[in-house]
Amino acid sequence: MIHLTVNGEPHALDVDPSTPLLWVIRENLGLTGTKFGCGVAQCGACTVHLNGRPVRSCSTPVASAAGGKITTIEGLAPAGQSHPLQTAWIEEQVPQCGYCQSGQIMSAAALLADHPTPSDADIDRAMRGNICRCGTYPRIRRAIHRAAQLQIHHHWTGEVAGTVHHFDPKEVSHG
Ligand code: FES
Ligand code: FES
Repeated sequence: MIHLTVNGEPHALDVDPSTPLLWVIRENLGLTGTKFGCGVAQCGACTVHLNGRPVRSCSTPVASAAGGKITTIEGLAPAGQSHPLQTAWIEEQVPQCGYCQSGQIMSAAALLADHPTPSDADIDRAMRGNICRCGTYPRIRRAIHRAAQLQIHHHWTGEVAGTVHHFDPKEVSHG
């Protein structure tokens, strides 16, 4: 039995330890917001947070996540709320086909948790593993900057990667 906490809910799963985490998320738990793209850790479509860090769930055996806290796109914001990234994504009309976008947002959320006001270089570094066949990269970058501003103006406090991230504007570095 493998124990995981996913979006704040504990689960005990009777699965082969080598099963990719992505399969467990989608098939066992029915959380289909996380997508299968390449299956070999090259595209980022399957990105979720494991204990606060972005991971490629297609290439993460569920056993290596045992006891961990996982956040998927469905749990990025508390129920009834939108994460500033989700608001910014809508305002900037980022998605085209949409397939890569859950993974893009999860990578961006990890970036903003570490760097509340990222530079273009920070964004490019954090997002380079997330491929978009539709080429939405310029809109993704704009939306991340917009989300950074929304976080500050709305004093965003949200659930990020299984830990409560209390955003404090005083933490913002303008350097
Ligand atoms: S599906 Fe996991 S990185 Fe492509
Ligand atoms: S929006 Fe189509 S692959 Fe990114």
